Amino acid sequence: MKSLFRALLIVPLALAGMQVYAADYTIKFSHVVAAQTPKGKAAELFAKLVEERTNGRVKVEVFPNSQLYNDNKVLEAMRLSDSKTTGLMAAPSLSKFVKFSKTLQTFDLPYLFKDINDVHKLVDSPLMDRLSSGLDKKGLRALTVWDNGMKVFSINGDKPLRNVPADFKGKKFRIQSSKIAASMIEHLGGTPQKLPFKEVYTALGQGVVDGQENAWSNVYSKKFHEVQSFVSVSNHSYLGYLVVVSDEFWKNLPADIRTAVSSSLKDATAANRKYAAEADKADRKKIAADKYAKVVDMTDAERDVWRKATAPVWTEFRDEIGGELIDDVNKLLGR
Ligand code: LMR
Repeated sequence: MKSLFRALLIVPLALAGMQVYAADYTIKFSHVVAAQTPKGKAAELFAKLVEERTNGRVKVEVFPNSQLYNDNKVLEAMRLSDSKTTGLMAAPSLSKFVKFSKTLQTFDLPYLFKDINDVHKLVDSPLMDRLSSGLDKKGLRALTVWDNGMKVFSINGDKPLRNVPADFKGKKFRIQSSKIAASMIEHLGGTPQKLPFKEVYTALGQGVVDGQENAWSNVYSKKFHEVQSFVSVSNHSYLGYLVVVSDEFWKNLPADIRTAVSSSLKDATAANRKYAAEADKADRKKIAADKYAKVVDMTDAERDVWRKATAPVWTEFRDEIGGELIDDVNKLLGR
């Protein structure tokens, strides 16, 4: 019945001179943020490009806002999926790979990057293969890195986060599932609390946690600033994403389809960097204009105090990540 319906639909279009294919492959792209964020927009663009470049042989369905999978649960689902025609794809933040990769934790090291240009220097270098190596053995194929931006800290209460440890003392901070973020919060003087992204707004609003760290576009699109008093421009680490797909699905795709998917990702990655740079500026401005939370700039000297307070995190994780790899990253970044 279904195929008869499809045939009826295809004939008039074919007669009109259009080539129409039913999709042979479906990619379900799951993510947790809002559609208008740099990740959400890049996922939509990727979907459009893939469909165009495969003449509809691949259909990409994008599921934003944790609609399909909450937080890093998607990685487990991806590992278990063995379908050769329906593939799961996602772009969890680099911090959420902690169960599958020790080396990717490098990205969480506080003050590793001065700015987003530093990030691109690393991500575009051959070191990126070393940082993400071994994921295929866990059933995950790493494809590219997408930006969100540098993270800022927000807090509820009567004073902004500026002095460490004084301003962090007695405060609870929501973090992602990152051991390094947990240690960093402790060194800043606060208490870390791991929570899925979907629960952050309510946890902040109900006082389950006092503050959180995130990029501007997530703070704005999820309205965190509406339930926070201050945002400190700490730029202490990077929020970026590793785009991954089930390795099994990827290996079974025909070469021409893989080429079309890869070229679409390449273009979506270039666009994502632009979206992220724009959102960084625009969403900061919107947060300041909304006047729920006060945006508090920090001087380099103030950031330096935070950097020194969190420096022991580097020593703590050096062996786990690999000392040689950390040295090579530092060398690349001119440290
Ligand atoms: C978070 O959990 O705070 C972020 O990883 C969400 C995201 O995907 O940007």
